[in-house]
Amino acid sequence: MSTIKLGDKAPNFDAETSIGKINFHDYLGDSWGILFSHPADYTPVCTTELGTAAKYKDEFAKRNVKMVALSVDGVESHKGWIQDINETQNTTVNFPIIADEDKKVSNLYDMIHPNASDNLTVRSVYVIGPDKTIKLMITYPASTGRNFEELLRVIDSLQLTANHKVATPANWKQGEDVVISPSISNEDAKGMFPKGWKEVKSYLRMTPQPGKN
Ligand code: BEZ
Repeated sequence: MSTIKLGDKAPNFDAETSIGKINFHDYLGDSWGILFSHPADYTPVCTTELGTAAKYKDEFAKRNVKMVALSVDGVESHKGWIQDINETQNTTVNFPIIADEDKKVSNLYDMIHPNASDNLTVRSVYVIGPDKTIKLMITYPASTGRNFEELLRVIDSLQLTANHKVATPANWKQGEDVVISPSISNEDAKGMFPKGWKEVKSYLRMTPQPGKN
C-alpha cells in the first residue's frame, strides 16, 4: 500500500484499459490528468458518473486535462458496460477505463480502504499536473457520486494558482476575485497586480482574477 501525498510524483504504471494498453505517464504526455476510481462495473452510481464525465469532455479538453478512469473489473466487462453507459446516459465514453483486476493500480494509488470495502475501490480523484506531481486528492465513499462541476472548479483554481501568486477563496468560481498570496509583500504586489487590491485585513487582500478582462 502506498500513501500518496500532495506534491508527490504520481506513480507511473502500465495497464490494460478499454482502449488498449497504456503507460500512464506517456498517455498524459504534457497534459494535466485526472484519475478517478469506480468501485465496480455495472453499478448504478458509477454508470451516471462515467456518463457525466463523458459529457464534460469538451470542458476537460479546454483545460488540457486528460481523463483516465479505473475499475477493478476486466477489459471485456468494461467494454460491455461502456455500451450500457453510452445507451443509458446518451453519450460516448471517450477516455480509457483501466481494467485493474489484480488491483495493482488501486493499491499504488491507495484506492482500497479496507474498512469501507476490502474488494472494491472507494471513489478517489487525483489531479496530476503536467510535471506529473499530485495536485489534488479527494476521496468519496462508494455511495456518493462525484460532482463534475466541482472537479472543473478545482482544476480552474489549480491552473490559476500554478501561474499566479494567488489563492482562491471559499466557493470561488472562474472570473471572481482572488486572494493575493500571503507570501507576497505589498511592495511586490504592486508590480504583480496592476489592477490593485482591496485590503480587507493586512493578511486578506482581494484582487481581480489575473488574466481576466
Ligand atoms: C454504485 O456505483 O452505484 C455503487 C457501487 C458500490 C457501492 C454502492 C454503489
